[in-house]
Amino acid sequence: MKRSAQTLILALVLATGMTILAYSPNGAAQPVANSPEDDLRAVNASSLDIAEGKRLADASCSSCHGAKGISNNKGTPHLAGQRPAYLHLELRAYQAGARGSPVMQAAVKFLSDDALVKVAAYYASLDPATPSNTRPTAAKLDPVQAGKAAASGCAGCHGEGGVSKTAGVPNLIGQDPKFLVGAMQAYKSGQRKNDMMKTMLAAVSETEMGNIALYYALQKPARAQTTAHGDAAAGKTAATDCGGCHGDHGVSGSPATPSLAGQDADYLVDALKAYKGGTRSDETMKSLAAAIEEPAMKNIAAYYSSLQPQPPKVRKPLTTAEWVARCDRCHGVNGNSTDPRFPALAAQRADYIDKVLHAYQKGERKNTTMAAMAFGLTDAEIDNLATYYAQQKARAVVFITQPGK
Ligand code: HEC
Ligand code: HEC
Ligand code: HEC
Ligand code: HEC
Repeated sequence: MKRSAQTLILALVLATGMTILAYSPNGAAQPVANSPEDDLRAVNASSLDIAEGKRLADASCSSCHGAKGISNNKGTPHLAGQRPAYLHLELRAYQAGARGSPVMQAAVKFLSDDALVKVAAYYASLDPATPSNTRPTAAKLDPVQAGKAAASGCAGCHGEGGVSKTAGVPNLIGQDPKFLVGAMQAYKSGQRKNDMMKTMLAAVSETEMGNIALYYALQKPARAQTTAHGDAAAGKTAATDCGGCHGDHGVSGSPATPSLAGQDADYLVDALKAYKGGTRSDETMKSLAAAIEEPAMKNIAAYYSSLQPQPPKVRKPLTTAEWVARCDRCHGVNGNSTDPRFPALAAQRADYIDKVLHAYQKGERKNTTMAAMAFGLTDAEIDNLATYYAQQKARAVVFITQPGK
């Protein structure tokens, strides 16, 4: 690359008492040389510092991070072209025990802060990794679209968009996704006994269940297009004790309790009978249903089926592009950070980004900003973001000369 030649020339200039200043790719505002801020020392490293950093890196770091800071090890990050002040800050964090990683803590244990500055500057000066092309399809994955595709086989019974047209088959719209996932898991494990649903879900993975439930939760709620065989007015009176859990007007506020509004009436009757007879096990519902005779069940079912279902409180997940727009505010365009303290993400190993985002979520890696950013991310979103950034072209840190100290 052109830059390496440039660095070489600069190295010679340096011998005459100049300072090298690391600029970020697009030349955005940078702190000046000799900044009083200690955490910018790696930005202002000299070529001599960088050469010393290389010696240390070759001896102590390259076995894991690769000969030129390009890692071939799963879970071990590329360091080449990473922002200099960021690298220094992280090395300090390992040394102070603020960032946990036994191997890294051991690697920096006996190093002086000066050595950390130099090795950080060295890695920052290297050409970054080339973008990866692994796992290319994952980035295009939209959970709602994936859910729709996975639910295509369900529409025959549960209706388009989960609005049932078949008596005895439940609506799937208007339910909290957690409830739907729980119901699917219960069929699959056999805890909820229904051989047909068990077969239907046999080949459906956990991820697909989540996507399916999300897809239905985001559909416009509508009453089942089936007929009830009871007296809704009588049912309303009989259902007074049910609202405490199933909500006023049959719209539940809790993911553990299903909404009943707009549900197919025959299904509601079947469910109550199943609780009563014990084929569907739930202690609360069993004792409640035990007290209800079949005509009353039909009335209650007629009442609930007549009510308007409501959308559950679920946010439509952001697409990968929408997430990236948020992350890039700090991490730079396509993960090419312009702040020497903020890490670049472009062309970083996907498995490492994946691991680190989970570590922020679990609090294993401590950073208030990133904990907040990672908090709401699903596993699929993390996977997509990691894939996306690993595929971006990384821009090198450009070291330029500044008149000497
Ligand atoms: C035994 C293998 C091993 C050695 C030797 C090693 N590292 Fe690491 N390094 C890792 C692993 C694994 C991680 C990821 C740890 C984590 O998730 O916090 C890491 C993380 C880092 C990070 C954090 C990067 C980031 O993007 O946040 C820096 C900086 C780093 N190493 C620098 C060094 C330096 C400098 C040396 C030599 C002094 C060194 N490492 C030696 C395995 C190693
Ligand atoms: C052949 C018809 C049929 C097909 C196809 C079908 N289901 Fe069902 N489903 C039913 C019936 C009938 C019930 C009620 C079973 C019971 O009484 O527990 C049910 C119940 C459910 C429930 C429980 C709802 C609740 O309120 O407790 C969920 C969730 C569900 N199905 C999801 C699916 C998904 C997802 C698919 C596609 C992968 C699917 N079903 C395919 C007929 C079907
Ligand atoms: C103490 C809280 C509570 C009360 C009161 C209650 N339920 Fe439930 N109900 C639940 C829970 C929790 C479930 C989910 C159980 C399961 O997973 O099978 C449920 C499930 C149901 C279902 C199955 C719905 C479906 O989509 O699969 C029906 C029907 C039902 N209840 C009707 C009633 C009726 C009618 C009453 C009043 C007589 C009532 N419930 C009172 C908590 C309650
Ligand atoms: C408000 C600024 C900000 C935003 C927005 C932000 N980050 Fe960060 N990010 C940081 C900072 C600061 C660090 C370094 C934290 C540390 O020392 O652990 C970081 C660290 C990271 C790391 C670790 C990099 C490494 O080399 O170890 C990853 C991965 C990451 N962010 C991904 C993301 C993703 C994905 C998003 C969007 C969902 C995001 N960030 C949004 C500021 C931000």
